[in-house]
Amino acid sequence: MVSRVIPVENFDLVIFGGTGDLARRKILPGLYRRFCAGQMPEDSRIIGAARGDLDDAGFRKLIGEAIEEFVPKNRRDTQTIKDFTARLHYVAVDARGEKGWPELAKIVRQDVVTAFYLSVGPGLFGDIASRLHDYEIANPSSRIVVEKPFGRDLESAKALNAELASAFEESQIYRIDHYLGKETVQNLMAVRFANVLFEPLWNAQYIDHVQITVAETVSVDGRGAYYDKSGAMRDMVQNHLMQLLCLTAMEPPSKFDPDAVRDEKLKVIRALDDIAPENIVRGQYSAGDDGVASYVEHSEKPDTRTESFIAMKVDISNWRWKGTPFYLRTGKRLKARMSEIVIHFKETPHSIFDEDAGSHANILTIRLQPDEGMDMRVTIKEPGPGGMRLVDVPLDMTFAEALGPQTEDVPDAYERLIMDVIRGNQTLFMRGDEVEAAWKWTDPIIEGWTTRGDRPMPYEPGSSGPEDALMLLHRDGRRWREIRK
Ligand code: NDP
Ligand code: BG6
Repeated sequence: MVSRVIPVENFDLVIFGGTGDLARRKILPGLYRRFCAGQMPEDSRIIGAARGDLDDAGFRKLIGEAIEEFVPKNRRDTQTIKDFTARLHYVAVDARGEKGWPELAKIVRQDVVTAFYLSVGPGLFGDIASRLHDYEIANPSSRIVVEKPFGRDLESAKALNAELASAFEESQIYRIDHYLGKETVQNLMAVRFANVLFEPLWNAQYIDHVQITVAETVSVDGRGAYYDKSGAMRDMVQNHLMQLLCLTAMEPPSKFDPDAVRDEKLKVIRALDDIAPENIVRGQYSAGDDGVASYVEHSEKPDTRTESFIAMKVDISNWRWKGTPFYLRTGKRLKARMSEIVIHFKETPHSIFDEDAGSHANILTIRLQPDEGMDMRVTIKEPGPGGMRLVDVPLDMTFAEALGPQTEDVPDAYERLIMDVIRGNQTLFMRGDEVEAAWKWTDPIIEGWTTRGDRPMPYEPGSSGPEDALMLLHRDGRRWREIRK
């Protein structure tokens, strides 16, 4: 099969924070890859904006080097880097002052699609949004893209929404959650809503429980200052895991349209029960035998109570899910990098086989990373003589094997999301009310920890998290899927 590249209109994309870490590591290498795929029309431009005293040539050099560093060798070459960087421009702008804004107003065209990517700290969102408006750089069809974290609680998220709303309509605002740009996350919607097979079974009558795991091996080394104010709850659960939960649990939208999808996700968040303290386990990694520092050393705060791991049992109070818990788990410095959604179906209501056949249940695993794919465990007769003995076997579909070379060059999450911005498609971006609802559910949990002075439990680096996380399922007669390499 041939991969299809859908053309986009000519655009001017301004990246505030264009010299920063995210722009150099993800955004510009991603745009380079789209350029190589033929998806950047000839008359489109990317304009970096930051305070640093650079000119076009300096910015082109910086980004050329970033591409060499962050795009694999077999996916780049000198000529295309040269052609791509020729599309780059730079304007020195101070988000908080007036420096550079008249120049930016001059360079940004009004007769092409305009998008403004705010790859800067959230403290600058309001300043930039209002100046884009006041200097008449943005117009009613411009798009503004904002990075996470979108606030640190309901109050701050509301304030950010209000700042953006003072200059942009909701239909112009693109709040990024890069998990929504991942190929398999979108596949979850295809699996659920493009197959007649699963939807009739996708409810509490047939599903015993759901497990969502996002395990990482990385530590927070180098990010301690940010992470200490955030922790796993704000950094991963409130956004990425919440989105995975929503896509798994939501009702079928009437169409694959931004508001139809986001309305259904919002209903799920609003149906989440409050969580009792005994249904959450927080952990913090200790020092490793291999000499790797503990969380405390990475945070530089000797008495930090920030969690680098969370496991929780979440109940959804609606007709579809009442009685089927969702267990969520995420953490740093775990045994392996592994993200998956596992649907554990119930056993058959009555077994016609004798007791020796054992008890069996189907399990559907959607692997997000690495090794994207799906696996369905079905029960069959064990081949050979010896009567009716049952055995569970995998129906494994690793996408790379099933679809071949087509999967080798799939756009990464950032590439896809930026192109959706240019196309004006908000389906894979969070709406303001969705983010606020997620904080409304998260805030009391975090407040509870602070009020009670809860300390996270230590866990061994390279493990599956604290023992108590295992107990969270054991006490319900269930077991986590192993975190494996
Ligand atoms: P960096 O600190 O590396 O970069 C910040 C950028 O903003 C620089 O280009 C800086 O340039 C510019 N900047 C800072 N102050 C101003 C100002 N007053 N006016 C204009 N430009 C300014 O941050 P990151 O790239 O790491 O992060 C950017 C945003 O993306 C943050 O909100 C972060 O939370 C989010 N994010 C980052 C991720 C990452 O992997 N890095 C992942 C997910 C989200 P100069 O100092 O020259 O002005
Ligand atoms: C980011 C978090 O949003 O997602 C990081 O801030 C985390 O802490 C990262 O490591 C995980 O993303 P991915 O795509 O590597 O799973």
